[in-house]
Amino acid sequence: MSSLKNWDNRTWLSSKEYIQKFNKFLLKQKKLNKNSNILDIGCGRGKIIGNLYRDLALKNKPFGIDTVNHKDKDRNMVFKKIDALSFLLKTTESYDLILIKQTIHLLRFNQIIKLINICKKRLSFNGKIIILSLDPNKNELPVFSSMKKNLRESLKRDKKIFNLINRIDKKIVIKKFNFKVKISKRKYLQMIKNKFISTLLNFSKKQILDGIKEINLKYDEYLIFNDRLICLSLNKS
Ligand SMILES: C[S@@+](CC[C@H](N)C(=O)[O-])C[C@H]1O[C@@H](n2cnc3c(N)ncnc32)[C@H](O)[C@@H]1O
Repeated sequence: MSSLKNWDNRTWLSSKEYIQKFNKFLLKQKKLNKNSNILDIGCGRGKIIGNLYRDLALKNKPFGIDTVNHKDKDRNMVFKKIDALSFLLKTTESYDLILIKQTIHLLRFNQIIKLINICKKRLSFNGKIIILSLDPNKNELPVFSSMKKNLRESLKRDKKIFNLINRIDKKIVIKKFNFKVKISKRKYLQMIKNKFISTLLNFSKKQILDGIKEINLKYDEYLIFNDRLICLSLNKS
């Protein structure tokens, strides 16, 4: 699969409103303070942890890892371009928060099992792993027909991932995060053209152009929908 380069490339996911609302939600799931040590797996441009660094006046810059190194990433993090498992197998650090946001679905099942188990070992005493993914039961993302089909398959797989995580840790806490999006159709079509979501990565140019036509006909000037995530919190033991 090609890499995901345009996920938070000036979309609602990198907006101040989204990041502030998300971080408020995150801090409800895991209390953090200026001494907290944070790792973000699949950090993208690192806007979320960069914002946490500023808001919490963290002593240590949070650590962000990703297989893609964006030029415009947040400066308030320490970034390493590396695969999650390779990093975790090497590091001896322990973390108060390990964030895995909208990334776990990009891994294979056996990699997910390994990842969760190593993450648990790398947690500090009161640390938490927080995993977020699209809510598989309530997805409102505007889609065209072939995208809908692929997304449905991907959400089915996500449900299997949640069951898998549940088998590893029976004490997971499940919460929901919701962000109301209002975006111009022009901007959303650009996001589709940029293949912002993994569901679109393997689409041909023709499939994308057909999809753009479909969305263009189906929606008015603005698209309004909820970006709904499911959040799984796991403790060390
Ligand atoms: C959908 S984006 C999410 C970015 C960010 N967490 C957010 O929610 O805004 C998924 C990210 O995971 C990264 N990724 C995929 N596989 C990875 C792996 N094996 N190790 C580390 N990062 C990975 C991708 O490059 C991409 O930046």
